[in-house]
Amino acid sequence: NNTVLTDDFGRKHNYLRISLIEKCNLRCTYCMPADGITLTPKNELMSAEEVFAIAQTFVQNGVDKIRLTGGEPLLRKDFPEIISKLATFNIKLSLTTNGILIDRHLAVLKQFNVRDINLSLDTLIASKFNSITLRNQFDKVIDNLHLLLNNDFNVKVNVVLIKGFNEDEIIDFIELTKFLPLSIRFIEFMPFAGNAWDKSKMVSQKQILETLSNHYDPSQIEKLADEKNFTARTFKIKDYQGSFGIISSVTNPFCDSCNRIRLTANGKIKNCLFSNAETDLLTPLRNGEQITDLISATINSKKKVRAGMTTIKELNNPNLNQDNRSMIAIGG
Ligand code: GTP
Ligand code: 5AD
Ligand code: SF4
Repeated sequence: NNTVLTDDFGRKHNYLRISLIEKCNLRCTYCMPADGITLTPKNELMSAEEVFAIAQTFVQNGVDKIRLTGGEPLLRKDFPEIISKLATFNIKLSLTTNGILIDRHLAVLKQFNVRDINLSLDTLIASKFNSITLRNQFDKVIDNLHLLLNNDFNVKVNVVLIKGFNEDEIIDFIELTKFLPLSIRFIEFMPFAGNAWDKSKMVSQKQILETLSNHYDPSQIEKLADEKNFTARTFKIKDYQGSFGIISSVTNPFCDSCNRIRLTANGKIKNCLFSNAETDLLTPLRNGEQITDLISATINSKKKVRAGMTTIKELNNPNLNQDNRSMIAIGG
């Protein structure tokens, strides 16, 4: 039954992104505001049972892929319990993580078949890692990246590009795919509350493609077919093991094929990454009310493109995006 999750534009929302926690063990400046965020009191966050109950309603209505995000999802003490519950659905389970705690959770990820791991890593230089994340965890993340690859996980590496910071590493990241079977995704820096976004700090899809064609011969660059509900437009260098892609949410959105709905750690759903409208599911769940109609109404009010912000100027409208959450409290 897909009608509950189909919007006015015929998009079927079969992909649920669940943020499990608002806390993180890094402080990436593009994600967490410098003065931190006000954390939701613990009793207002979803318990493992509540995550399961809300997810179950989505699965019954056609969700067949769940991605766990945060903050840093592996910081949840009950992460193994949550995964074991969600694994009973027999759907695709995936995880977006900063990688620091991967070694501790490797056995659980294997046991419950969480094979698709997206790992955030914005630089290949330790000192730069420290300056963007404000923590010294570079070696740990690199070790865990190799641990995942050595254990045959499907790994995508998320690289948020920031002008003057890491655009000089685009080719180095692509060269990683020569011998490693991973997918690098270059992400346009996006505006959210508290991250001091400015267009001049963003490296656009166009600039990334220029860097690419300045370095490689056109005959070396292969355009791959886009995934069905892609975020990244993907490429590979001929004969390299891995691939790479560009997530151009700002200059070239991909909303036509959007199949994603988000559930925040405090039990609210958002019909778009950029929407500041939220629908509380946790309170009705706790009151013993059914939540299907609330989900359906939220899907039905989804706008065609980026919560109604069609231009970059609108996207950076402080009145709109500053009312949205910080990225750390959305989960990407
Ligand atoms: P896959 O499930 O592997 O396709 O992952 P994903 O790209 O959907 O998710 P991930 O958590 O790795 O996020 C990578 C980047 O894509 C982050 O910057 C996200 O904010 C961004 N992203 C993910 N989903 C959406 C989306 O629906 N819209 C927009 N605009 N950006 C998204
Ligand atoms: N712009 C683009 N991507 C971002 N991420 C976090 N904040 C931003 C932002 N402002 C990415 C991280 C993480 C993913 C979930 O979202 O790289 O991998
Ligand atoms: Fe979907 Fe909103 Fe992302 Fe567009 S911006 S792809 S509508 S979540």
